[in-house]
Amino acid sequence: MDMSSAQAQRALRNALGAFPTGVTVITARDPQGQSLVGLTVNSFTSVSLEPPLVLWSISNRSASISHFSKGSEHAIHVLSSDQEALAMQFATPKADKFAGVAYQLTQDFGAPCIEGCAALFECVTESVIPAGDHQMILARVLRYETEPVTPLLFARGAFAAAVPAPLVPLVPAKVCSTT
Ligand SMILES: Cc1cc2nc3c(=O)[nH]c(=O)nc-3n(C[C@H](O)[C@H](O)[C@H](O)COP(=O)(O)O)c2cc1C
Repeated sequence: MDMSSAQAQRALRNALGAFPTGVTVITARDPQGQSLVGLTVNSFTSVSLEPPLVLWSISNRSASISHFSKGSEHAIHVLSSDQEALAMQFATPKADKFAGVAYQLTQDFGAPCIEGCAALFECVTESVIPAGDHQMILARVLRYETEPVTPLLFARGAFAAAVPAPLVPLVPAKVCSTT
């Protein structure tokens, strides 16, 4: 099959879309504490429990890429099934992605934390690994919390709601420290 490079990229993207993922919004604040940034990310995955490490990747074309350098704090929000609009808001370039969003900023953590998500991981970037047209962000989890709500899914280019297995009870975990 002879395909242009745009067609080849589209075909690869379609094939990768057969793998369903959750959906996160990842936020940060610049070192001077002025501007807030955030983007929708489905490349998030768990890596290690001891130490607690997670991984996600950011496009080299992302406007917020400089906010996630080594040592910077960021908040990873796993979205619930009723937060599809939030996913689209943070996937769309605009001046203030936080307009109308309920979030908290505290003294002891350098990123805005959005309310009402299925899980929240407060992280610090451990290393940034160049990977083609993306950078992989390996991050250490400092604190986390989770709520017993249905997570949002993304598959084949569309959002869906995860149906929890009836035999697995969802146990809410309030703020937990990993240290
Ligand atoms: C479901 C979904 C998943 C996405 N996953 C990623 C991702 O893993 N990494 C990434 O860099 N962009 C991802 N994007 C695209 C970004 O959210 C989008 O380009 C965003 O506007 C980037 O914001 P920024 O330029 O302000 O950083 C995703 C978009 C959607 C809708």
